[in-house]
Amino acid sequence: MSEERRKVLVVGGTGYLGQHLLQELAGKPYDVAFTYHSATNAPASLLQALLPSPPRAFRLDLQTGEGLDLIADALGPPHVVVNCAAISAPRACEMDPAVAMATNVPSSLVKWLSSFSDFKPLLIHLSTDQVYEGVKSFYKEEDDAIPVNVYGKSKLAAELFISSNYSNYAILRSSIIYGQQSVSPVKKSLPIQWIDGVLSEGKEIEFFQDEFRCPVYVKDVVDVILRLIKKSISDGEDMQLLLNVGGPDRVSRVQMAEAVAAIKGYDMSLIKPVPAASVNRGVISPSDISMDISRLVEVLGIAPVSFRDGVKLTLDVKDHI
Ligand SMILES: NC(=O)c1ccc[n+]([C@@H]2O[C@H](COP(=O)([O-])OP(=O)(O)OC[C@H]3O[C@@H](n4cnc5c(N)ncnc54)[C@H](OP(=O)(O)O)[C@@H]3O)[C@@H](O)[C@H]2O)c1
Repeated sequence: MSEERRKVLVVGGTGYLGQHLLQELAGKPYDVAFTYHSATNAPASLLQALLPSPPRAFRLDLQTGEGLDLIADALGPPHVVVNCAAISAPRACEMDPAVAMATNVPSSLVKWLSSFSDFKPLLIHLSTDQVYEGVKSFYKEEDDAIPVNVYGKSKLAAELFISSNYSNYAILRSSIIYGQQSVSPVKKSLPIQWIDGVLSEGKEIEFFQDEFRCPVYVKDVVDVILRLIKKSISDGEDMQLLLNVGGPDRVSRVQMAEAVAAIKGYDMSLIKPVPAASVNRGVISPSDISMDISRLVEVLGIAPVSFRDGVKLTLDVKDHI
């Protein structure tokens, strides 16, 4: 391929992960563009944060593919597409399975990528740990994926669609992504900030003792994506990768709260452990979807930060505390 700057398109650039990714890409030698969906224009605060050369922004509806032709005309074929767009709230998926499927299975995007005749852009697609059933610890990529809710089913359907219809992809099964708020704040509540907020009020609060995840710090997920982009450029070959993307620690919600309390000096007795089955959340949540990340470490040479260090970075707490 020629010396032209590689084009990277972030689909869902207005979401939590998408914004963090765009911020890192801003300092890299790529020609970056992104898509947004629900607003009429891309958020001014996001574009402002990406000065002096804000990426081009395009409105896109993944359900219909409306907007893709305009991107092709203005940008030409991208070298890499990172798909961060989704209905990412499990409860929202449960309430409208048809919309969840139509959005989360990127059929229009894959069709568009397949239409470029010269080469197949790399598609980096965000999936989830919720494709796993949740009945054992430290799932590996080759374990059976048996999702228990609509969100997980839609994400697994997306994985199958991509791997059966496209030849150059990396699918990232991410655990809970935590970290600092994005530059244009997302409306959903962020896990560490939420725990910090409720514990700071000094009231007792219940946390699940029997739901286990491997939360991953947002900058580590961004690092994974950047390494995949580099790998695809340096190898110059198509890839077919499926990777668990989690942090190194398997933690319950109680342990997550305890980490925040220890770091911020809150009273540990405010944390009341309860079984997850005691609360109806309107969606089934898998119990233990902790993941084995040895393939991630081996393929990309990455060492995600510990949960405790990630929480400190998130809450901007220095080591001496
Ligand atoms: N955050 C986590 O803890 C976590 C954990 C595991 C996996 N994941 C996965 O990682 C990815 C990124 O998550 P996130 O937290 O950044 O998600 P998010 O904050 O909910 O952002 C979702 C993005 O999707 C876009 N979008 C929604 N519907 C669309 C449509 N019909 N057409 C085009 N774009 C559409 C939104 O655009 P507008 O905002 O402009 O409408 C937004 O940019 C998702 O695939 C998610 O499932 C996330």
